Amino acid sequence: MTQNPAPATTTATEGNTPPATPWWRDAVIYQIYVRSFADSDGDGIGDLRGARRRLPYLAELGVDAVWLTPFYASPQADGGYDVADYRAVDPLFGGLQDADDLVREAHRLGLRVIVDIVPNHTSDRHAWFREALAEGPGGAARARYHFRPGRGADGELPPNDWESVFGGPAWTRTGGADGEWYLHLFAPEQPDLNWENPEVAAEFESILRFWLDLGVDGFRVDVAHGMVKAPGLPDIGRKEQAKLIGAQVLPFFDQDGVHAIHRSWRRLLDSYDGGRIGVAEAWAPTPERLALYVRPDELHQAFNFHFLTCPWDAAAMRAVIDESLASTGSVGAPATWVLSNHDVVRHTTRYGGGERGTRRARAAALLMLALPGSAYVYQGEELGLPEVVDLPDAVRQDPAFFRGDGQEGTRDGCRVPIPWEGAEAPYGFGPAGSWLPQPAEWRHLSVAAQSGDPRSTLELYRSALALRRRLPGLGDGPMSWHATGDGDAGVPEGVLAFSRPGFACTLNTLGIEVELTVPGRPVLATAPLEFTGGTVRLPAETCVWWEV
Ligand code: NOJ
Ligand code: MG
Repeated sequence: MTQNPAPATTTATEGNTPPATPWWRDAVIYQIYVRSFADSDGDGIGDLRGARRRLPYLAELGVDAVWLTPFYASPQADGGYDVADYRAVDPLFGGLQDADDLVREAHRLGLRVIVDIVPNHTSDRHAWFREALAEGPGGAARARYHFRPGRGADGELPPNDWESVFGGPAWTRTGGADGEWYLHLFAPEQPDLNWENPEVAAEFESILRFWLDLGVDGFRVDVAHGMVKAPGLPDIGRKEQAKLIGAQVLPFFDQDGVHAIHRSWRRLLDSYDGGRIGVAEAWAPTPERLALYVRPDELHQAFNFHFLTCPWDAAAMRAVIDESLASTGSVGAPATWVLSNHDVVRHTTRYGGGERGTRRARAAALLMLALPGSAYVYQGEELGLPEVVDLPDAVRQDPAFFRGDGQEGTRDGCRVPIPWEGAEAPYGFGPAGSWLPQPAEWRHLSVAAQSGDPRSTLELYRSALALRRRLPGLGDGPMSWHATGDGDAGVPEGVLAFSRPGFACTLNTLGIEVELTVPGRPVLATAPLEFTGGTVRLPAETCVWWEV
């Protein structure tokens, strides 16, 4: 239906016939959290038409692709990650034509489009689950999910000790006379599918084809590490299991069996032209296990949550960068870098908030965009938005908040609709209101307020993304660290410094200024610099890009 954009290739190395790099190896991908990006119809909820109208902003910002969070038909028990119909657009967000128009318009602007796919679970309103409830134990409809009798004399105890990521047991008992329980690793409104059932795999293949035929450039695969459960659904034997996610293999996460699914999806993606990709949202205990998701015959990328969760500390950052490059490199995949998304506290706030948080966030952005591989930008981070930490309970919608002990209810504060322009809320987000209230200070952080101000975070991102396209050493390709220590060549402890072909990046993570030997011509800095002879004074928590 729609045309894919002309392959935007970049050159990794200078030479006579530079090899073409597949677009996704160094793409900057902008995450649109649809309900909070732009509202076209005044219901206070962002939608596909609103997003389409704002695409020129993203093309001008200089990103290569957008990732849209789920806009499918859904009761919205978990912000659309509870899908009732994978081939329909929820009326909240528009219709199928709007999805088609958005993809076409993005391609016209040279932007690729990745959509979210949610294969681990459906909504409890999905036709399959309604059928399963109606049908009763033992039937084919129940076999698409994980239904089990309970333990205890009357089956009054859950079938095993698994906990929901959002808190509480991972099992809910059906109201029916049969008294079976069903598994949901997330909210009770999100029953887990049984991927051992070939019907499930066949249905998802058909859903992927539906969106690929419509022209999308790929999928962000939700809970890509969770689709297969250990045989027999064994107990874990301890509480607070959410704390183990990403730290060890669990009987419900990062099971080896998931890789067969990703392999089959890769074959499907490769059967389409135009470089369609799959991106794993996978929480794996180590970079090595994460790399298994991006082996040559599996998905193309995986989010690097080890980078996201890394503390503000030079040694820790360097270790994560090295591990990430080594592990993805060992399977020939590009590294990816991400600082924020719709599930975590925005990084200005994570880094300490206030002026310090902003300073660090700006420096981290330049670090991220200078590293080899592909980077993800979460809407509003280019405006330096902080987490909204004082939302009244009455407006909160995150199921994790209501289930309490799970993800600590942190996820509404990063989902507040973004400010575009004007002195009053909703700051151009839409004609009227926004589903979560925006802080009054955000009028100073809007796109319009920051545009043209060379000191603004927005202009920093614009410059960085423009340079990333202009400087051949950035994106895919090699990097090497500068030696640390005393003496002429060494950089002080607490400073991260590395070279890429024709380029250098220096990041002072310390709270005090440091002096460095000038490594080249400064092309971008997160704070003003002072030069004396051959040295530069790098202010506290500042990052500088140099052309060498
Ligand atoms: C990860 C998504 O990013 C998150 O928002 C969602 O709640 C869970 N997966 C469950 O689908
Ligand atoms: Mg709307």
